[in-house]
Amino acid sequence: MAPGGKGCLTVEKLLIEGPSRLAGEITVHGAKNSVLPLLAASMLCSAGCVLHNCPVLSDVETAMRILRHLGCQVEREGSSVFVDPAGMDRDDIPDCLMREMRSSIVFLGAIISRAGSARLSFPGGCELGPRPIDLHLAALRRMGAVIREDHGCLDCSAPGGLRGARISLSFPSVGATENVMIAASRADGTTIISNAAREPEICDLADFLCQCGAKISGAGESTIVIEGVQSLGGCEHRVIPDRIAASTFLAASAITGSKISLAGVNSIHLNPVLSVFEEAGCHIKCQEDRLEIAPPPRLCSVKGIRTMPYPGFPTDSQAPVMAMESLADGTSVFVENIFESRYKHVGELLRLGANIKVEGRVAVVEGVRRLSGAPVEAPDLRGGAALVVAGLAAEGRTEISGLKHIDRGYERLEESLASLGASILRTSS
Ligand code: UD1
Repeated sequence: MAPGGKGCLTVEKLLIEGPSRLAGEITVHGAKNSVLPLLAASMLCSAGCVLHNCPVLSDVETAMRILRHLGCQVEREGSSVFVDPAGMDRDDIPDCLMREMRSSIVFLGAIISRAGSARLSFPGGCELGPRPIDLHLAALRRMGAVIREDHGCLDCSAPGGLRGARISLSFPSVGATENVMIAASRADGTTIISNAAREPEICDLADFLCQCGAKISGAGESTIVIEGVQSLGGCEHRVIPDRIAASTFLAASAITGSKISLAGVNSIHLNPVLSVFEEAGCHIKCQEDRLEIAPPPRLCSVKGIRTMPYPGFPTDSQAPVMAMESLADGTSVFVENIFESRYKHVGELLRLGANIKVEGRVAVVEGVRRLSGAPVEAPDLRGGAALVVAGLAAEGRTEISGLKHIDRGYERLEESLASLGASILRTSS
């Protein structure tokens, strides 16, 4: 219930008056998808860790609450988060925290490694369709964990401690690769992960663990070798920039025909999306950690965007880029290969005047001349970001509800866009 509300719910909305013209520069925050496994890994250290460039996001706050629940000391000062795991005295994650953030499963390997046991509820299905964890469980079982799945709960123990193992993933799952890397860091012996995920967040996790004393090689490649060590120390680490937030700002620039700059980015991580923006007619200039984008007067269609594991086009950028292509000249085709149900934003984009048809994994976007503002609801995190992108270009007022999704992954999105000149504000009623 809303604070102070007697049976009333406070509903927050973003109000956008479009079309917007953007200009200027914004700094992109740290990567949500890095911070979560880094926070999980920090519980394995024998000394405190400091993570810099940690965005204030509801998912990050949930991860911090999980650590506190487990008995760790966690403090935030600005964008730095300090974790001292010395007092960790529990091995469970309550159902409410598991449900709040599906990716809390990435804590499993760390808890078993640290406590010798773990009790978690199933993360369950989510907005993107069923989200199985079979690869996580099979890998941890190979490392000696005994896992009972009963009544929606996972009851795990590793009586003899975790041991190194050969693990071959049938799909390069990001979360499963992270879980195994964390669990294997202090396991007895060597773990080899084949068909590992190669996302930049995997390299960030390996960098952090190695700074703490882990022995990991091959991160960023398909085979990762982790030689277990007796103990890990603490370290200070700066989280990599959020490539998905960056691609969302690029889509906002492109759809509004506005030249902007992004600071604090890693353009190599963005390579798979930059080529798509170039195909759409945008000029991109990269200099160290800055990037400038200059879109054409009208965007071109893109022939085929297939979401793939890194270094393919990221599934998380599919929705914002689709919103941008809804105003392009011609027909763009998207194929979603990672998640079953990742086109929930399409129905909402149609309300704004887009012309998109979905059949199974394929979405065909016929570019239209104009979008018009309307009330819409964020169906999930990146789908919500897509509505913000479209709302910036739509004529008139777009009212976006369902902000809890957007707040999971974008730090004060409306303030960043307003600083670029967008007419956007958050209201609550
Ligand atoms: C991570 C990202 C998410 C991104 C996704 C794909 C975080 C916190 N989240 O999610 O933003 O969209 O990578 O880049 O980093 N799968 C199984 N069994 C498993 C695990 C996964 O079948 O045990 C399937 C999933 O259903 C999905 C595919 O593998 O179809 C990819 O999932 P995965 O790479 O694990 O994504 P996440 O780590 O959950």
